Amino acid sequence: MDRKYWEDVALVHDEKIFDVFSNDAEQVIHKNIIKYSSRKKTAMDLGCAIGNWLPMLSAHFKKVYAVDISKHYIDLAKKKNKQLPNIEYIHVDLAKASKAITTTADVVVCINTLLTPNAQSRNAAYETVIKAVAKKGYLVLVVPALESALYSEFILDLWDAKDKAAGKKADKVAKEGNPFDGTMHLDGTPTKHYLKEELHFMLQQSGFEIVETKKVKYTWKTEFTNPPAWLKAPFPWDWLVVAKRK
Ligand SMILES: C[S@@+](CC[C@H](N)C(=O)[O-])C[C@H]1O[C@@H](n2cnc3c(N)ncnc32)[C@H](O)[C@@H]1O
Repeated sequence: MDRKYWEDVALVHDEKIFDVFSNDAEQVIHKNIIKYSSRKKTAMDLGCAIGNWLPMLSAHFKKVYAVDISKHYIDLAKKKNKQLPNIEYIHVDLAKASKAITTTADVVVCINTLLTPNAQSRNAAYETVIKAVAKKGYLVLVVPALESALYSEFILDLWDAKDKAAGKKADKVAKEGNPFDGTMHLDGTPTKHYLKEELHFMLQQSGFEIVETKKVKYTWKTEFTNPPAWLKAPFPWDWLVVAKRK
């Protein structure tokens, strides 16, 4: 998941990238950004892609920095949000950005950006993310939940067993990946997934206080094609953690 990967993905964004903005039916992310917003504060969207969050950030903050590794994404976000007056775009790789991002923000939003299975570059990007948060500022971090990926695997097995018992073909394809380091495949792409405790530990070690931990819940249609009618709650989810820099 280097710059080339994201430049290529940007060209086929709609078919390749899961739309968190539209699928967060309970608006957990929206509500948790609004809670810490102020027209006197600054915000930063790290990994902004096409800029889905920029209109709401622009409306609730004095100034917004929109950051992405991909030039295509920065150009698309600029075009899509050209009417917004208070956005500054920064084209940079967070894993190499310690000097390129020269400012901090009161609220930093980082939604499904720290995904690379490469621990070295993910850790470097994480360091940039936490450094971007001003003292007493907030980080709104959203990441794929490892618990949810494993739970989906349990559901697949159950689904297969039910099909078998009904005399149907049991042919669900198990998820690929390594749960021990959290690298699970999403549509064939190895993607870092996180445990709730792992997130808490990381952020506390980095001098943050955990303020909120919420599930961003999605429907089963986001996980499986044609999910069966018996498949209800609990639903699959991403983790949202709001953490305050001490
Ligand atoms: C899955 S998309 C999520 C987009 C957006 N945050 C959202 O919620 O819709 C991940 C985004 O993070 C960006 N990204 C990934 N790694 C990055 C890095 N090291 N530095 C800057 N941006 C990065 C990608 O280019 C892409 O736009």
